Amino acid sequence: MSKIEDLEFPYCQDVNKYEKLAKIGQGTFGEVFKARDRKTKTLVALKKVLMENEKEGFPITALREIKILQLLKNENVVNLIEICRSKATPYNRFKSTFYLVFEFCEHDLAGLLSNSNVKFTLGEIKKVMQQLLNGLYYIHSNKVLHRDMKAANILITKSGQLKLADFGLARAFSINNKGQPMRYTNRVVTLWYRPPELLLGERDYGPAIDMWGAGCIMAEMWTRSPIMQGDTEQRQLQLITQLCGSITTKVWPDVEKYELYTKMELPKDQKRKVKDRLKAYIKDQYALDLLDKLLTLDPTKRIDGDRALDHDFFWTDPRPCELGKMLSQHTMSMFEYLAPPRRRGAGPHQQQPVAKPAASMDQHFDRIF
Ligand SMILES: Nc1ncnc2c1ncn2[C@@H]1O[C@H](COP(=O)(O)OP(=O)(O)O)[C@@H](O)[C@H]1O
Ligand SMILES: [Mg+2]
Repeated sequence: MSKIEDLEFPYCQDVNKYEKLAKIGQGTFGEVFKARDRKTKTLVALKKVLMENEKEGFPITALREIKILQLLKNENVVNLIEICRSKATPYNRFKSTFYLVFEFCEHDLAGLLSNSNVKFTLGEIKKVMQQLLNGLYYIHSNKVLHRDMKAANILITKSGQLKLADFGLARAFSINNKGQPMRYTNRVVTLWYRPPELLLGERDYGPAIDMWGAGCIMAEMWTRSPIMQGDTEQRQLQLITQLCGSITTKVWPDVEKYELYTKMELPKDQKRKVKDRLKAYIKDQYALDLLDKLLTLDPTKRIDGDRALDHDFFWTDPRPCELGKMLSQHTMSMFEYLAPPRRRGAGPHQQQPVAKPAASMDQHFDRIF
């Protein structure tokens, strides 16, 4: 078998057709650059495929992301244009690198929320949530779970189009009809956005996991910071209980099936306070009601994308309002990577050590909303 460096890739152009302009992201799996097509001048985002530690050739995680992105074509899902590669040369020790080439979006939601000059009206928040839920409805209809909902993975173009991004952890799901449990890994979803069923060890999960994340992001549109910032799984469940009430068989009949449910000894007398706690930030009754339905403990009772889009929140005044006008006042791109850390003091993010997967959670302090 030939080595990957020796192969020719007729459908895979040289990444040199793009001119790298700036680094805009440092994720778990590699760097992201803003770049421009030298010929057409189109702006793109180049996401490097990490090939280090790869003994088996092209990484399976990247293949999965590519396969899913090729299937998903929707105005609220980031568009994958092509895959490019760098040629093996002495300068890269004869290792070629692959890049996912995406249409460029000016901002991500984490970057926008961390900038206090960016102010969303209620109508604009409705537009963000409507597009986010529309994207989720689309991917779930195509039997894809996102599995990594968080503000940094929500992109927004300068004209105000929202795009779900980062399908690095996404996977196809199938409704299991043979009665056998699906054995998906439950080590997915950034801790702060992780739903209770995952924290309790569920491995046969479904679209409801992304709806919980949508709820966390919705609250963040007003609070401007993630609402439940646990530093361990145990602590995260505790924070969820404090906001959403105790996890009991009364609100979640099936919860007894989890070994962890009995082992963990979570407080059993907490009242549900979602609306009460968040009404200090959110004045709109419909918003509070939709949020309450997204942050439902029992995943079988949690609102799905279809019903969420039908919620009165979107169909009462003020109606969802285009973001383009508000965003046109901000000429600078806003990305999480370029923003000062949202939870600690200010300081240029670039001087931080390269983020390890959990690095952003190392020095956190609890913020309770
Ligand atoms: N198409 C894009 N346009 C603009 N920025 C992007 C694009 N894709 C990714 N980014 C930026 O790069 C960051 C990391 O990309 P992401 O796909 O989330 O990779 P990771 O799996 O490393 O988190 C995002 O949070 C976003 O700020
Ligand atoms: Mg990401």
